[in-house]
Amino acid sequence: MRVLGIVGSKRKKGNTSTLVKKTLKALETEGIETELINLGDYDIKSCNGCEGCKDTFKCVIKDDMNKLYPLILESDAIVLGSPTYFYNISSDMKVFLDRGYSFEVFSDDDRSVWMSINEAMGGKYAVVLAVCEQNAEKEMGFTAEAMTRPLEALGYRVIDTIKILRLFKMGEALKNDKALDQAKRAGKKLAKTLKLRKEIERKLKTLK
Ligand SMILES: Cc1cc2nc3c(=O)[nH]c(=O)nc-3n(C[C@H](O)[C@H](O)[C@H](O)COP(=O)(O)O)c2cc1C
Repeated sequence: MRVLGIVGSKRKKGNTSTLVKKTLKALETEGIETELINLGDYDIKSCNGCEGCKDTFKCVIKDDMNKLYPLILESDAIVLGSPTYFYNISSDMKVFLDRGYSFEVFSDDDRSVWMSINEAMGGKYAVVLAVCEQNAEKEMGFTAEAMTRPLEALGYRVIDTIKILRLFKMGEALKNDKALDQAKRAGKKLAKTLKLRKEIERKLKTLK
């Protein structure tokens, strides 16, 4: 089992990164393989809306997203973390999610009928982590939802959503035990979810 952690902040020692790493660490403790991706390390261009992906599920843009597509397909779950930038996700996270559109498939004669290739392959799981500076949740705006809705459309069930307020300076998350604990518990819950899935798959085979 394999989980991909995606950090939407360019601050590698920032709050989002600290919390995503905490979630991944909890997964590793449960014997689950993880990989951390800092979107800032990748040159990912924005979707140009050409619809060129619709027959092959492959994006026509040749850039670093091609390094991430196989990792996404091979993973059983994803942990997405973004700082709040003006009530929303970071632009790096938005570009990354938009490029996931190549996994979305629509019926030829009815665009209200669609599903992702992840869903067709049995569905996946996700944890969403949003971090902001202000005290009031309304100042976080749509950050969590801006990740959850595309993830759902892409065939992921979001099993935990963590919204952490009052984090500003780099490294502040390291001193916030409550936030660290929430991130850790999300990792444990995701590990349990993945193990339950495997258990059901095993049982179904014996019942055939
Ligand atoms: C461009 C920009 C916009 C921001 N907008 C908001 C905002 O709307 N609400 C808020 O509470 N914090 C906002 N912040 C603060 C960050 O969300 C906060 O510092 C967060 O901890 C940064 O996460 P990081 O350490 O992972 O980069 C903004 C920061 C930047 C740089």
